Amino acid sequence: QKFNVAVLGATGLVGRQIIETLQDRKFPVDQLFALASSRSAGEDIDFRGEKIEVIDVEKFDFSQAHIGLFSAGGSVSEKYAPIAAEAGCVVIDNTSHFRYDFDVPLIVPEVNKDSLADFRNRNIIANPNCSTIQMMVALKPIYDAYGIDRINVSTYQAVSGAGKEAVDELAKQTANLMNARPMENNIFTKQIAFNVIPQIDTFQENGYTKEEMKMVWETQKILGDSSVLVNPTAVRVPVFFGHAESIHLETRMPHDIEHIKQLLNEAPGVEFIEDEQDYPTPVSDASGNDTVYVGRLRQDISHPHGLNLWVVSDNTRKGAATNSVQIAEELIENYL
Ligand code: A2P
Repeated sequence: QKFNVAVLGATGLVGRQIIETLQDRKFPVDQLFALASSRSAGEDIDFRGEKIEVIDVEKFDFSQAHIGLFSAGGSVSEKYAPIAAEAGCVVIDNTSHFRYDFDVPLIVPEVNKDSLADFRNRNIIANPNCSTIQMMVALKPIYDAYGIDRINVSTYQAVSGAGKEAVDELAKQTANLMNARPMENNIFTKQIAFNVIPQIDTFQENGYTKEEMKMVWETQKILGDSSVLVNPTAVRVPVFFGHAESIHLETRMPHDIEHIKQLLNEAPGVEFIEDEQDYPTPVSDASGNDTVYVGRLRQDISHPHGLNLWVVSDNTRKGAATNSVQIAEELIENYL
């Protein structure tokens, strides 16, 4: 059986990656509909060696598609996901718009694919935030074996998480600096080239940013356990592709670090770098593939239940496109 698939945001960074991933993973696509705004309607996108013309989403009839993969921003999803869902197209949404609705499943296939059945409530499935996805893939085996009381995490997030204009901004500022020209910033609040910015998304009333709170809400929803406490600091760094995370956690029960190494060696989607003098980085390892890399596993010297690890993954792939396509694969295998 083959499926008609609509990709909304097809000209964007994640949308393009979704189309490439559908092709690479040989998702059984019958017809592909590349949707974007009127700005790019009529442009061509390559898919399986053919040119597909971009359609203005406003003019698209969603009853033609079985599955819709959306990554055009929260307000676009807010408008079009209900329209698509109503027309019988199951929406897999990459934005944060529906993630916290109790009747919308939030899925990382390696972690909670059984919750996918709830998609029937609204015909909408939410894809988690990129930083949450890689953290969940790495921590799930530890959670299952020992429980987790709390997680302290600092992220080092690539600019591609903020879209193609953000990638252009880092490239342009870097080039300008090399040429000693003055710079302007539009996407980021401060210069991103050769700098780090401890703000992603907007500030909330509690002083955390929304990106940080996403990691709190989503971790608890995905694990189905609101007793797991999460304390994040999310930081943008001048890296193009691949988020890194420094994670400190306290297990609920006393743990055995040798057993945790074994769990990480066997964990689906994870590559564990066991060599204590080696470690993964976004550029040398994660960028361009679908693996969640874990390294620098250390027993916390300040707390018997504490553990440290370093987790790296390509935010546009496992953090977005690949996870969405994996959800679609589960969907067609078990439900459609
Ligand atoms: P377009 O190229 O027509 O602007 P990125 O996250 O890399 O910035 O990409 C955003 C994606 O979302 C692009 O494909 C963009 O299409 C699409 N998009 C943005 N706003 C809208 C809108 N109002 N309607 C449809 N697609 C939109």
